[in-house]
Amino acid sequence: MATNRDQPSLGLLFSETGVTADIERSQRHGALLAVDQLNREGGVEGRAIQVLSRDPGGDPDRYRLYAEDLIRNHGLQMLVGCYMSHTRKAVMPVVERMDALLCFPTPYEGFEYSPNIIYGGPAPNQNSAPLAAYLIRHYGERVVFIGSDYIYPRESNHVMRHLYRQHGGKVLEEIYIPLYPSDEDLAHAVERIARARADVVFSTVVGIGTAALYRAMARRYGDAPRPPIASLTTSEAEVARMGAEVAEGHVVVAPYFSSIDTAENRKFVSACQASFPPGVSITAWAEAAYTQTLMLGRAMQKARSWRVEDVQPQLYGLRISAPQGEVWVEPQNNHSHLAARIAEIDSSGIFQVKWQSPEPIRPDPYVVVHNLDDWSTSMGGSVPA
Ligand code: ACM
Repeated sequence: MATNRDQPSLGLLFSETGVTADIERSQRHGALLAVDQLNREGGVEGRAIQVLSRDPGGDPDRYRLYAEDLIRNHGLQMLVGCYMSHTRKAVMPVVERMDALLCFPTPYEGFEYSPNIIYGGPAPNQNSAPLAAYLIRHYGERVVFIGSDYIYPRESNHVMRHLYRQHGGKVLEEIYIPLYPSDEDLAHAVERIARARADVVFSTVVGIGTAALYRAMARRYGDAPRPPIASLTTSEAEVARMGAEVAEGHVVVAPYFSSIDTAENRKFVSACQASFPPGVSITAWAEAAYTQTLMLGRAMQKARSWRVEDVQPQLYGLRISAPQGEVWVEPQNNHSHLAARIAEIDSSGIFQVKWQSPEPIRPDPYVVVHNLDDWSTSMGGSVPA
């Protein structure tokens, strides 16, 4: 009987349930779209790529257990998955111990390297650095931080505090709320934000708390002017949940938005519309999952093999024409060269791009940027005007 060792196979670890289900479902369908495309081209050496999906429900222990099970009992060596950073950190020792590979298509806090992880979402120099420059220039120097209470928000705030300080900006408050915030948690947090009289709110709230926070802000301010919420993760999925009237005027930095008007993206959006189930949004993190999966498939085709030791070296030589633009992996740190775009959400819930990097930004996950005026020259982008 053929086993997964005898045919090209991928494991998908995206939650269909739990706190980040909306966005991880979008990522899973992005990855599935790439597999479908690869298989229509003939797969690898004429064999279709098989997919085994598991739903870890947002629970780090289940990510770890499913990763172990897929590798040990199902013969898989390549996984695409994880959204919250503590779930990636739960899978990391498993792929390291078992000589497997995890593709992680999500923005994160930086300061990490694993030889067994390919990072497909932005590190802070590819999102926080241009966002800080843009916010200070367009909104002002007084910022409040609000995040979900886990590693990604706490570490991202550490970097953002540094960026604001270097520019003479002021962090007025740093607020954390649970991953499942109660109405009381939100009302209390929004009251602290209002009292601080900030120019802008930097949010690292993820998952279902996102729509709840934006709604609580809309309720608290009513028709009065309110500071925009700027985020590294809020996507079309969260906007669909909160509604356009609540999302209007808020700011997001990401490599991709579904509204990008390029031939490559129009093709991608049509393919997503044809294959995503109703209610699943086309997002930056679906695009990242699609791009990483396509890259894995291309590397398998080039290696004419699905053994990770043959496939991984091929990954480093590839350049993918992704919906966001050209994407490639930096062999020095396993992170990806990615576009950066800053968008403001309009009254129809569309992400209107206000700035974009002239070329993909080199990933530099260990650098806390010391000078906002320097980041673009050292990292391949222009300062947001
Ligand atoms: C995240 O936790 N990396 C969004």
